[in-house]
Amino acid sequence: MFNIILFGPPGSGKGTQSEKLVMKYRLKHLSTGDILRSEIYEQTALGMEAKKLMDKGFLVPDEVVIGMISSLLDANPKAHGFLFDGFPRTSAQAEALDKLLQLKKTSISVMLALKVGEEELVKRLLKRGQTSGRPDDNNDSVIRERILEYHKKTTPVADHYKKENKAIMVNGEGSVDEIFKALCKEIESRINEIL
Ligand code: AP5
Ligand code: MG
Repeated sequence: MFNIILFGPPGSGKGTQSEKLVMKYRLKHLSTGDILRSEIYEQTALGMEAKKLMDKGFLVPDEVVIGMISSLLDANPKAHGFLFDGFPRTSAQAEALDKLLQLKKTSISVMLALKVGEEELVKRLLKRGQTSGRPDDNNDSVIRERILEYHKKTTPVADHYKKENKAIMVNGEGSVDEIFKALCKEIESRINEIL
């Protein structure tokens, strides 16, 4: 299996690049943000609880997202690889993911981390907020809170995979196609040694 973590701050292009990568490499896309938004759309109890935190820019509890990922790994036994987008976002999530993958006799192949400056992130998210209807994109202070959560809780996840020599930084500024090419180059230099 080839399992990728697409890592990066809010607005760095994880969702945009994931769509292209899962098509090209036929991976199963697991985005915890998208799954939580569909729970909100369906007005489930989980969605309603998560919404209170998401609208303020805070992370939802680890056990909620770990439970979601665990069920989705079980629900896709035939996948030949997963692309994790927006997960893991804390050290506890990274440790849980390693254990879940171990149970499936697989592991993370590579973490690709998109690097984008803070002002560019805010600019992209405010722009999307004009049309997306995402409450967490509408307001500068919620966007800053999301970025703060990322610095406080999520950056240690990169260290976790750096220790295993699996973290690769990729420039996330430029055109969508340029960034996609850079990501593919990193994947292709590793895919043969792993498959
Ligand atoms: P989530 O949905 O994961 O959001 P996020 O990480 O904050 O960031 P985005 O999804 O908004 O950005 P992205 O990196 O995917 O960029 P995108 O491609 O969309 O999480 C939302 C919330 O859910 C969290 O705050 C938290 O509350 C909760 N949550 C989710 N996962 C969790 C977890 N594991 N643990 C706890 N809580 C969790 O691009 C952004 C914009 O930029 C788009 O408009 C796009 O068109 C544009 N764009 C993309 N690439 C470029 C480019 N190269 N140049 C110019 N514009 C570009
Ligand atoms: Mg996203």
